[in-house]
Amino acid sequence: MKVKVAILGCSGRMGRNLIQASVEHESIELVGGSVRAASSFVNFDLGELAGIGAIGQKTTTDINDLLAADVLIDFTSITSTFENLTWCQNHNKALVIGTTGFNDEQVAKIKEVGKYIPVILAPNTSVGVNLMFKLLEITAKAIGDYTDIEIFEAHHRFKKDAPSGTAVKMGQVIADTLGRDLNKCAVYGREGITGERDRETIGFATVRAGDIVGEHTAYFADLGERIEITHKASSRMTFALGAMRAAFWLNDADAGFYDMQDVLGLKD
Ligand SMILES: NC(=O)c1ccc[n+]([C@@H]2O[C@H](COP(=O)([O-])OP(=O)(O)OC[C@H]3O[C@@H](n4cnc5c(N)ncnc54)[C@H](OP(=O)(O)O)[C@@H]3O)[C@@H](O)[C@H]2O)c1
Repeated sequence: MKVKVAILGCSGRMGRNLIQASVEHESIELVGGSVRAASSFVNFDLGELAGIGAIGQKTTTDINDLLAADVLIDFTSITSTFENLTWCQNHNKALVIGTTGFNDEQVAKIKEVGKYIPVILAPNTSVGVNLMFKLLEITAKAIGDYTDIEIFEAHHRFKKDAPSGTAVKMGQVIADTLGRDLNKCAVYGREGITGERDRETIGFATVRAGDIVGEHTAYFADLGERIEITHKASSRMTFALGAMRAAFWLNDADAGFYDMQDVLGLKD
């Protein structure tokens, strides 16, 4: 039995990849996709939107047209995600959230909704990135206490939030492993006379340029050697395929607040 999915924000960069990934996935059935009311892609064929040829399904501006879905996939914007989350709660639908940029308070609100419906919050749905989170945990446990930890990320010029949700999550994984509070130890950018580096800090550096899909590196640097753990995404399809894996997994899950580590079975 295929899992029925609908894509919210399907004319976006990720939305188009999600259409293609869902159409090509053997265990997923695409039942619809939404666009903004003001979009130039209203009532547009989903397949044509994704550049894979017409599939006979049109975009809608009304999320109520997506009731046939078991799982909805949201890669939109923060405001839109919260509207969609409320709708999912009201209609008892599972939701994969790929949108990024939520603050702690907003994450807490999403967690709360997880008491009623299955929700995955995945700032990065790539399988490789989530494996990297596990590697960060192992590395932080082994050498995090005596190395300088810095996180670098680079994305395309259109990205609206910084640092990326993935970079923040990398910092969170490391801070949690080391028993530090990321809100207190994170340093977002440096300028001027900064003084010597405080060992307890976790630094973040951001680049926005051209069409970079997504690059992340964590440095664990000591005197004389350093370990760099890097992930590079070369196509958005990696995120779309991970989102399909998440949707497939979430369809069988009880109400709860999950992440990709749950989907991939990487939790201890
Ligand atoms: N989790 C991951 O692995 C991952 C990977 C890549 C990106 N992301 C995140 O996913 C989100 C989308 O990224 P993107 O690159 O696809 O951005 P994008 O190209 O701007 O697409 C966003 C889509 O959401 C729609 N949208 C935004 N606000 C809306 C609203 N209020 N109501 C209805 N539709 C709305 C937009 O519609 P219009 O086109 O009409 O504006 C657009 O189609 C971002 O938060 C990004 O950081 C996550």
